[in-house]
Amino acid sequence: EKGGHDYFMLKEIAEQPRAVADTLLGRIDGSGSLRLDEVRIPPHELREVDKVVIVACGTAFHSGMIAKYAIEHWTRIPCETELASEFRYRDPILDQRTLVVAISQSGETMDTLMALRHAREQGAKVLAICNTNGSTIPRESDAVLYTHAGPEVAVASTKAFLTQLVACYLVALYLGQIRGTKWGDEIRTVIRQLSEISGAVERVLGTMEPVRELARSLAGHDTVLFLGRHVGYPVALEGALKLKELAYMHAEGFAAGELKHGPIALIEDGLPVVVVVPSPRGRSLLHDKVVSNIQEIRARGARTVVIAEEGDEAVVPYADHLIRIPVTPTLLQPLVSTVPLQVFACELATARGNDVDQPRNLAKSVTVE
Ligand code: F6R
Repeated sequence: EKGGHDYFMLKEIAEQPRAVADTLLGRIDGSGSLRLDEVRIPPHELREVDKVVIVACGTAFHSGMIAKYAIEHWTRIPCETELASEFRYRDPILDQRTLVVAISQSGETMDTLMALRHAREQGAKVLAICNTNGSTIPRESDAVLYTHAGPEVAVASTKAFLTQLVACYLVALYLGQIRGTKWGDEIRTVIRQLSEISGAVERVLGTMEPVRELARSLAGHDTVLFLGRHVGYPVALEGALKLKELAYMHAEGFAAGELKHGPIALIEDGLPVVVVVPSPRGRSLLHDKVVSNIQEIRARGARTVVIAEEGDEAVVPYADHLIRIPVTPTLLQPLVSTVPLQVFACELATARGNDVDQPRNLAKSVTVE
């Protein structure tokens, strides 16, 4: 049942190209436009949406953080992403023009369910992004966009996360498409790029042996830090979460721009720091700033593990370990940059003798608040 893998987690990591492709299947028509008839919120209501609020927990929350960048960029609708467990307790401002997106693999997470109930009571429309057919969260939502990751058995979420990202991109692009934002051409281009992205996920999976080797060599460390910027920031948080839950190590993710506001004090000789580098194309200013951050931490003794696009030569002098990922559009990069972090956490946890499918103290779905 593990398809020849030692753990479900390894099987599920390997299934990601397929899961991504399946989540896109049937949703892009022959002319390259999105067809999301299943989202049964009428287009005229979606055109009136003036705010998007995303609620989720854990890994799903990280996909929602990335969605915020995509939604605001492609639709120009203000979007906030909030931890479901915090959301209703601060009396959020919601009305009929608010679209709440609840993201959940299991569809049973109590915090997320309570958040969406609260949103509906306030008159907001709720769209669920969910991996489990007929579960509670989609049943209680106005509409649902299913991720087609297939059953996820390992406690740590991997393929569900990638498909949540795909679903979030689809929602963002769909909102852009029906509202006809001024980014129309870009939207069509991204839909095409998204339809080709599973090949990039496949390619990155084929280059993971050095990542596994590196992970084994770090098994004796106590702390690993993760840095990222823009959509790389939630990726850094996700890399740190995977390492905490699987390897039981102290792992923290930071926005690279925050380094000098505190976290740089943590850097000491030999401390492994994983840095997710934005594409040097497009928002190249960000790229250069992250490269400076790598320089700064290395000058203070950090052992730098750099995740950077193929062809990005600027990072080479400062990388103790260099992990290459395929060239992708800036906003889609998390679909490839997360993969080495999953493999890294899984291998490091295994090297420390942990059961990666059943980490201590955790349950696959959290049905209490
Ligand atoms: C982390 C993980 C958890 C879940 C979170 C939400 O690997 O699996 O953080 O992402 O408990 O679960 P769902 O998506 O089922 O609502």
